[in-house]
Amino acid sequence: MKNRRILLVDDEKRILEIFSLMLTDLGYSVKTSSRPDDAIQLVSAERFDIVFLDQFLGPITGLELMHQMSAIDPELYFVIITANGSQELAVEALKKGASDFISKPFFVTDLLKSIEYIGKKKDLAVQKKKILLTLETKVNERTDELKKTHLDVLSSLAQAIEKRDLGTYGHCKRVSGYCELIAAAIGLDSRERHYLGIAATLHDIGKIGISDSVLGKKGPLDDSEKAIIKSHSQKGVEILKPLKHFGPVLPAILHHHEGYDGSGYPHGLSGQEIPLHARIISVADTYDAILSTRPYRPAARHEKALSELMENAGRQFDGEIVRAFVHTHTTQL
Ligand SMILES: [Fe+2]
Repeated sequence: MKNRRILLVDDEKRILEIFSLMLTDLGYSVKTSSRPDDAIQLVSAERFDIVFLDQFLGPITGLELMHQMSAIDPELYFVIITANGSQELAVEALKKGASDFISKPFFVTDLLKSIEYIGKKKDLAVQKKKILLTLETKVNERTDELKKTHLDVLSSLAQAIEKRDLGTYGHCKRVSGYCELIAAAIGLDSRERHYLGIAATLHDIGKIGISDSVLGKKGPLDDSEKAIIKSHSQKGVEILKPLKHFGPVLPAILHHHEGYDGSGYPHGLSGQEIPLHARIISVADTYDAILSTRPYRPAARHEKALSELMENAGRQFDGEIVRAFVHTHTTQL
């Protein structure tokens, strides 16, 4: 308690001298000021715990000075010294943020009571802050665990799909890796990269809802089968929609087959209308699809896959993303 730093502000210098001496004798660190502007300077330059403010300071009231000092140091505690019997002012002071008030004339015991009261109040506030911080940390940890569990479950489902969709095993993981390369190349921040990673891993989750006869068909698909395959982007959204954590990734999943020139699906969006993450996944997804062995065509070579992407830059794909990907890819592989 004795290590509290105290500032006394009163326009009566005699009062300041008396109480400063008394509190200093009791072991407190005390500064005094008889002028509001000097008091402001003191609060700006040094750290205090408690400020005793006389309400009548001449050019400014104690409450006005309290307002200015709070803006400088929000941690300060204030005690307003009111004129004898001014209960209305005392109530107003408490409403405006003062912790306590003292009526004139007062004695050193009144100051000590206020110091003790504020000391307890401050200790409680510190404890409360610590408890809240601990709770917040636990809630965040638990939320992260839940998010990870959701993601693990959905990643397992995505992998199960890859095993059904012949020749695509590891596709989601690779697409996620290519997206990370593009994200780094175009300077996405960590939050964006986090959601892009999830969207890339789960972009084909909607294939869970496609029948084996269509998904595993060897040979070309007819129009109705193509339409069924195309429905996977919408189905992916339906699967993930109930999981609130994945709200930010839904646009990328819904639009990862849109074409930059408007030729894609499901909405025929074009250019910048297509969410950025969807444009990135589109490039990464296609690159991996070209490289992968499919039932109806041999795996293409790396250079061939890149040149195919370049040929379609500005048409099927966002040209800037293709160039970023090709550049990063050629410098890293
Ligand atoms: Fe897809």
